[in-house]
Amino acid sequence: MSDKQQQNKLWGGRFSESTDAFVQAFTASVLFDQRMYRQDIQGSQAHATMLAEVGVLTTEERDAILQGLDEIRQEIEAGEFAWSVALEDVHMNIEARLTDKIGITGKKLHTGRSRNDQVATDIRLWLRDEIDQLDAELLRLMNGLLDLAEREAATIMPGFTHLQTAQPVTFGHHLLAWFEMLKRDRERLLDCRKRVNRMPLGAAALAGTTYPIKRERTCELLGFDAVCENSLDAVSDRDFAIEFCALAALSMTHLSRISEELVLWTSAQFNFIDLPDRFCTGSSIMPQKKNPDVPELVRGKTGRVNGHLISLLTLMKSQPLAYNKDNQEDKEPLFDAVDTLAGSLRAFADMIPALEPNREVMREAARRGFATATDLADYLVRKGIPFRDSHEIVGKAVAYGVSKKKDLGDMSLSELRQFSDQIDDDVFEVLTLEGSVSARNHIGGTAPEQVRAAVARARQALGA
Ligand code: ARG
Repeated sequence: MSDKQQQNKLWGGRFSESTDAFVQAFTASVLFDQRMYRQDIQGSQAHATMLAEVGVLTTEERDAILQGLDEIRQEIEAGEFAWSVALEDVHMNIEARLTDKIGITGKKLHTGRSRNDQVATDIRLWLRDEIDQLDAELLRLMNGLLDLAEREAATIMPGFTHLQTAQPVTFGHHLLAWFEMLKRDRERLLDCRKRVNRMPLGAAALAGTTYPIKRERTCELLGFDAVCENSLDAVSDRDFAIEFCALAALSMTHLSRISEELVLWTSAQFNFIDLPDRFCTGSSIMPQKKNPDVPELVRGKTGRVNGHLISLLTLMKSQPLAYNKDNQEDKEPLFDAVDTLAGSLRAFADMIPALEPNREVMREAARRGFATATDLADYLVRKGIPFRDSHEIVGKAVAYGVSKKKDLGDMSLSELRQFSDQIDDDVFEVLTLEGSVSARNHIGGTAPEQVRAAVARARQALGA
């Protein structure tokens, strides 16, 4: 560390020896918190503007600070800024550079604030910006799902429970189930934003400050919805970051479920859909392989976001008020949770519109697994047979079909009538796949008509 940097250590007055070299590196956060530089500068500029309005800074001092910070932003963006581990974090690096550039006035910027309220403000500003970008990506994915669902509203596939063929559904309906999961993720994201968007600045170290600051003014300048009401709470809680990780973990969990289905469906055994080559990779040894890497990786990345949630919960657990250095550990998990979710959403938003369903294969799979057995049971109920009895009758018909390798719809009327003389010619309508899905024609049901109506409602709700 140079002498100048040592002098710049902002607490130099109290100390009689310099920080141990390893401790300095160990306690520094600048290697990762520098990504909040824009928010740090934005917060400092709002703070300086307010300080000038209340008479703590002169307008000349304010202008020097605002301009110096603008230039520092440009230096950072041009890759010309020399980050120093000796200066610990993004806040002290920028402040020291400001003093380098504009002299003694730079040292006045920190009047009436502390790094404790500064870092809490920066991270909230940073997360707010990221939430807005995540929301845009999530919307792109959701709109892609709606378009695909509309196109595939009448495409028939087997629906599964226990991963065994259950009843026929439409592919559009299945896609809308994915859409619903993401819709709730978006509600959580936007709800979390409300609690992220509150301003700690002005809490100073923990107790507030003796200067006549106007927090409402910085709040307005920074676009926060409100100030944090209690200074001790403002500098110490990271619940907003925990909340974000919780919703990110849930959203990744949803993406992992979609991923799992895509991995299954692209296998040669299912062959329900094709993923374009650009979302897949090959094998270095097996020439035939085309691997669904994107869904596999998203499924795998879910684990680390779940881990970040647990990290932050554990970080916060039992922390006494107010700020503790522990909280410097909030950033890497939060950053990685944001990056992982952002990358996964982007990959999905690109990939989903490119899915190519193999409609004939899906249809054939639905035809095979006795998927219309419930329809036959319901038919017998309409003929006056109690459901439990009709269940039994159809069970016998299925057992017969298994032994003869024949689906219900492929049996002749006389074959079917072995099991009940209530069965007539009109049975074949209900045994068709189209008849089966179209009959489930109520809100939330799988009928093509319902899928199209659900898409229209969803588009309207999204304002698309
Ligand atoms: N780098 C610190 C953090 O990330 C900034 C706040 C440090 N405050 C302090 N009193 N040491 O939390």
